[in-house]
Amino acid sequence: MSDYSTHRRKALDAFRHIALDEVDSTNQQCLIRARDGDPGNLWITANRQTGGRGRRGRPWASEPGNLYSSLLLIDPAPLADLASLPLAVAVAVHDAIGVVLPSGAPPLEIKWPNDVLIGRAKTSGILLEAERTPDGRNALVIGIGINLLFKPTETPYPTASLAEHGATVTPDELFTHLFAAMADALALWDRGRGVKAVMQRWRHVACGIGEKITVNLPDRSISGVFSGIDDKGILLLDRGSLGITPVAAGDVFFEPNGPRKE
Ligand code: BTN
Repeated sequence: MSDYSTHRRKALDAFRHIALDEVDSTNQQCLIRARDGDPGNLWITANRQTGGRGRRGRPWASEPGNLYSSLLLIDPAPLADLASLPLAVAVAVHDAIGVVLPSGAPPLEIKWPNDVLIGRAKTSGILLEAERTPDGRNALVIGIGINLLFKPTETPYPTASLAEHGATVTPDELFTHLFAAMADALALWDRGRGVKAVMQRWRHVACGIGEKITVNLPDRSISGVFSGIDDKGILLLDRGSLGITPVAAGDVFFEPNGPRKE
């Protein structure tokens, strides 16, 4: 075996995987194991979730047929370096979906910071949850849901499934790709030290750079031109005479009649 293959095998072997049938939430299952002393690098997948969790306390519809997966990391990086991790995760999810999506499908892109879109419709969700364990470690769970067979319809944004774009893969097959892509993305991210390289990958598949966008912040909305991200993953919003506003967290909306690349 070449040095590269040995190195990659080792990187993959660092992760364990437990496949479950029905759970409340794979994120919750990871947190429970963290509290019980799990050393981390643990993936949990499930066929179905009865209490799937989305961002902002929203539920995440979780019928069998889609992928529900969570990765538990323990003390993954100094706290100040964690902000860039969601973008590294999005790069991994983008890579995994890219392997199975037929070539004629609409563009596969990432909407800042970490929604993976097909033809500008959301096809996956990423939810990071963190807590301090009773023995004083920082547990971080990366929850990833990918719409394979089904897509939610009652959402404030357009949604897509892989099946409707001709991907016939099973959740298990897709997970194999995600497992490998996450190991690669985490190695590149390198506990935050590789943030610059991750952002280069992210920019290549970014959705909407150069377009007019609105960003919903907790207390207000601001609009401008999405001029890119900096080397830490902060969104840069060009507000004309007001200058460039850096945005660390918020929800991005494209102009309704902005370019569609389908
Ligand atoms: C979002 O709202 O965009 C994030 C959705 C995250 C859903 C995934 S499914 C697997 C994992 N377990 C959960 O309860 N949530 C995440």
